[in-house]
Amino acid sequence: MVAEKLILGTVQFGLNYGINNSTGKPAKAEIFDILNYASEHGINELDCARAYGDAQTIIGDFLQQSNVHFLLNSKFHTQGESISEQAKQTLKDLQTKQINTYFFHDVQDLYSDKEKTLRSLLALKDAGLIVKIGVSVYSNEEISYCADIEAIDVIQAPFNLLDNANKRQESFKRVKDRYKELQVRSVFLQGLFAKQAATLPDKLAPLAPYIDQVYEHCKNSNIPVMTMALVYALQMPLVDKVLIGVETMEQLKQNIEAANTILEESVINFIHQINVEDEALLYPYNWT
Ligand SMILES: NC(=O)c1ccc[n+]([C@@H]2O[C@H](COP(=O)([O-])OP(=O)(O)OC[C@H]3O[C@@H](n4cnc5c(N)ncnc54)[C@H](OP(=O)(O)O)[C@@H]3O)[C@@H](O)[C@H]2O)c1
Repeated sequence: MVAEKLILGTVQFGLNYGINNSTGKPAKAEIFDILNYASEHGINELDCARAYGDAQTIIGDFLQQSNVHFLLNSKFHTQGESISEQAKQTLKDLQTKQINTYFFHDVQDLYSDKEKTLRSLLALKDAGLIVKIGVSVYSNEEISYCADIEAIDVIQAPFNLLDNANKRQESFKRVKDRYKELQVRSVFLQGLFAKQAATLPDKLAPLAPYIDQVYEHCKNSNIPVMTMALVYALQMPLVDKVLIGVETMEQLKQNIEAANTILEESVINFIHQINVEDEALLYPYNWT
């Protein structure tokens, strides 16, 4: 089942998030419905973080009140509270006994005191409080650096129609050559692919010709844009897991249905000729 390759992101449950957000964060009852629906349709993993507002406590309440089980991933920073204190608070908020993958939220925290931080994480692993150690990254240099660290089990990086295999193939291959798990996020570029090029903010205008190309190709081949965006990531052989963020039940239903589509080779070839020149615009942190 393709949905098993999906991880449901949860920043949308705790913060008003995304370039195209018109609905704000969903109400608690809708989040519960989304989590139930996700589980019933084969999604068994959630991407959480303490930095995502009250998302973790809402998920904890849901898990407490339901019989549903998810693998729960979370993230930490190295400033302030110790990693072990942060992990304990996350376990309490999520009302669970174990974090599946515990991610460096910021790879800079790995650069700054690698040995000491990895020792703390390995101790959490020995104690059974976490199963895997992960890092969230952006650039190919960061991916390659993390791929070469033995203690790292999982790497999470951006990947989408514009930030595609042209740019990522080599570094993704390095991750898989070292038998690590590769997760990708940003497959809808924070919802940007749901926006027509003509409605992009001025700063993102240089991306308009690429978005236009995508819309034109989707129209000609009769594929919804969001389907192309999701299935492109799901069909990438090097990718183990694909994160998606949703703000409504309707979006989740559409995405789960879309996940069963198969893209023909001609569509993949079309995507692979898209080569965005100004790569900085592919990173949402540069958009404001
Ligand atoms: N590790 C990190 O540092 C990091 C950073 C960012 C995110 N994340 C994780 O990744 C998850 C996903 O975030 P992302 O940035 O990668 O977002 P994304 O999945 O690329 O885009 C999600 C946005 O796309 C829109 N969308 C989704 N399905 C849709 C549909 N069927 N039709 C129309 N619009 C649709 C929604 O926004 P609108 O309705 O507003 O358009 C949604 O909020 C987050 O929840 C979080 O868990 C991690």
